[in-house]
Amino acid sequence: MNKPMIKVSNELTGSGWMTNGRKLRRGVTRREFIAVASATLASVAVRGQTSLNLLASDRHRPRFHLMPPSAWLNDPNGPLYWKGHYHLFYQYSPVISNTGTKYWAHAVSTDLVHWENLGIALVPTPMGADKNGCWSGSAVIHNGVPTLVYTGGTWSAESERAEREKGIIPERQMVAVAAAPTDPYLRKWIKVPENPVLTAPPTGMKAVGWRDPSLWKEGDTWYMVIGSGEVGKGGMMLLYTSTDLRKFTYQHPLAIAELDPKSQDLSKPFTWMWECPEFFFLDGKPVLLVARGNEYLTGTYSEHRFQQEFKAQIDCGQVAYAQKTMEDQKGRRIWWAWLREKRSAKAQVEAGWAGVMSLPRILTFRKDGTLGVEPVPELTALRREYKKISNRSIEPNGPLLLKGFASDCAEIAVEIDPGDAQEIGLHVRSTADGSEQMLIGFNREKQTLFSDTRNSSKDPETRELPRFFGNLSLQEGSLKLDKGEPLKLRVYVDASVIEIFANGKVSLSDRVYPSRADSTGIGLFAKSGTARLKSLTLWEMSPISPDRMTSGAELFQL
Ligand code: FRU
Repeated sequence: MNKPMIKVSNELTGSGWMTNGRKLRRGVTRREFIAVASATLASVAVRGQTSLNLLASDRHRPRFHLMPPSAWLNDPNGPLYWKGHYHLFYQYSPVISNTGTKYWAHAVSTDLVHWENLGIALVPTPMGADKNGCWSGSAVIHNGVPTLVYTGGTWSAESERAEREKGIIPERQMVAVAAAPTDPYLRKWIKVPENPVLTAPPTGMKAVGWRDPSLWKEGDTWYMVIGSGEVGKGGMMLLYTSTDLRKFTYQHPLAIAELDPKSQDLSKPFTWMWECPEFFFLDGKPVLLVARGNEYLTGTYSEHRFQQEFKAQIDCGQVAYAQKTMEDQKGRRIWWAWLREKRSAKAQVEAGWAGVMSLPRILTFRKDGTLGVEPVPELTALRREYKKISNRSIEPNGPLLLKGFASDCAEIAVEIDPGDAQEIGLHVRSTADGSEQMLIGFNREKQTLFSDTRNSSKDPETRELPRFFGNLSLQEGSLKLDKGEPLKLRVYVDASVIEIFANGKVSLSDRVYPSRADSTGIGLFAKSGTARLKSLTLWEMSPISPDRMTSGAELFQL
């Protein structure tokens, strides 16, 4: 959990949200924030069943992405394969706010595509070490028993900031085990009596945070990293060992961030913290992931220390956050992230929901030593009827939209030869006159993949965006195309969620909230030159539930 100074203020400044005639600003306390958010949420909730119907017909709510029936989702937690089912947990809050009390919600799937929400798996224990939230963590199988290792939030709304400033860390590490490991649904979890299994960061360390455990096994020993960091030093992954997942011994930092003052604002405390660390071996090579920037680090691993050699991004947008992976029963490294909202806190509360789980993606090592990222092939099961066009020139003054190609629930696969154009790409979620549209493209000179949502909505609540780390309406990341290599995009359009995969090399997730229901058009563009469309295929996608994932609401009742 970020400190309120960072997340609360970032989400609220800029949102334009008024309370008692006063704009919330930096310095708002959690208590004030939660009080206002809950009050507004309650007004949505009193509409009872109607509100669920409203959610089910909300055209911004995705149809083939996992999310809770209502309220708040953030980080993916504890992915695990058990008895024929993929289990995926996620941070859930009944209040639409990242500072709300967090629970572990639980969903299962047999194919990584169709998900069933099973409700709440972990609830904060009153007076317990997780009394203020069951925060992010991981799942492993220990001696045949599915086991969750997570962070307990012990802060209180009144004192957290003061305590953190004094160096008191309101985080504890916790363990829960499956009550009935024979149950393929793993519906019940029991917290172990040894909790909290770790009570404080290593002695002498002035940690700015200490959370989000992630585990792997070497021989009979469990290795666990906890995200942490120190002001002036950088983000760190602290390494612990255990043989029984009850007693843990601190070893040393597995890795420390290499700071880059050019791209990092060292005045921000968050610079010094690595949230949601992941460490795993892919093709026998060590890989380290951190939440910020959806970064991955490759390098060397010796004597349980990781030395960074290379750094890049799995998703180069700022909407995806808190990446989490698992190795599945087929030996594939599957990746998920939380897709954040890009509209005001007020709009989120009014909608009655916020936060979506990304589609599952596969990470692989490419020949050049970088990581490749692609959607899992299972997603093709959702493809329905399709339309295809091929071999056309894309002129700089060409038509805005493709006739007959329109959808807000689709997968689009497109291959474009850049020709002599400087920028090429797609319009999606566009009106016929282009007054609302999103651009997805490649800039040849800069060698970047970009997404441009500056004109994607006339709704003012999407203008003053909740800010995370920068400009969210124009996002880009490195995409290097070899000479003669066409741009190959796979784009998933699911209402307000857009997930882009480029040449198997990088991904970019974004959100759009067009004000008009007819903002569904799709088109091609080329700038400063002519490009050639090799082919474009659009598949309509099947929803994964008949009601935009709103069923099972009763399982989320607290
Ligand atoms: C990342 C994070 C984690 C924390 C969780 C709480 O988004 O702040 O560090 O465990 O969210 O919901």
